[in-house]
Amino acid sequence: MPIRRFADPPALFQAAARRVAEQLQAAIDARGQASLALAGGSTPRGLYQQLAQLPAAQAPDWHRVAFYFGDERAVPPDHPDANYRMAHENLLGPLKISPTQIHRIEAERPQHEVEAHYRQRLAQLPQQDGWPCLDLILLGMGDDGHTASLFPGSALLAEQQVSFIGAEVPGRGLRYSLTLPVLNHARQLMLLVSGKEKAAAVAQALQEPAAQLPVQQLAGQVTEWYLDHAAAAHLKPEALP
Ligand code: 6PG
Repeated sequence: MPIRRFADPPALFQAAARRVAEQLQAAIDARGQASLALAGGSTPRGLYQQLAQLPAAQAPDWHRVAFYFGDERAVPPDHPDANYRMAHENLLGPLKISPTQIHRIEAERPQHEVEAHYRQRLAQLPQQDGWPCLDLILLGMGDDGHTASLFPGSALLAEQQVSFIGAEVPGRGLRYSLTLPVLNHARQLMLLVSGKEKAAAVAQALQEPAAQLPVQQLAGQVTEWYLDHAAAAHLKPEALP
């Protein structure tokens, strides 16, 4: 489980953008195309802005990248809370990504349609052990240890049968999310965490195996942690590179 720590959010975003570009291009070189699932939240936003500004020599061949979403709120795509809107404003729009490359969670539809539609989209990806295999999934983490829309105690977290599902999350409304088996069948996960309000959860996640945070259920062998100094502040020195 590699952990990388950076002095501040801009340094984190820059390094993470280079890593994303490198991994997408490696997938394109190996298989002709790459699949990337996007996250919501403020830390991913900083990464998207950086990705959209990569110099051409460092950017992957964006025409060969298919974009998916890790989670979404039950709102239309132009809603201020929509992860799609944030991704569009900061990454997909600035890069002029063709709509044919974007697999949006159509969260404005009735729940059963949203689920059926996205499961079908995911079923068109290469599969491994019966699960869709994305090249790279970007994730953020909340101060309660949630990732994507897998919150502590939520039915979404326990789901082991389907690739994608929605559920009411107390206090947060209806959320849709990729399920843990999909996250853990990705070739690579990148977990981006910044800010001192996340420091306690980061320390718990990485140092207290019994804490039972959602983020601790991510497969360690494919998860790279990108932390800024503030988010890593409660980690013991031996946990750090
Ligand atoms: C979302 C997410 C969620 C997010 C974390 C961290 O849609 O909100 O996918 O998992 O990444 O809550 O968000 P912040 O970076 O804003 O704290």
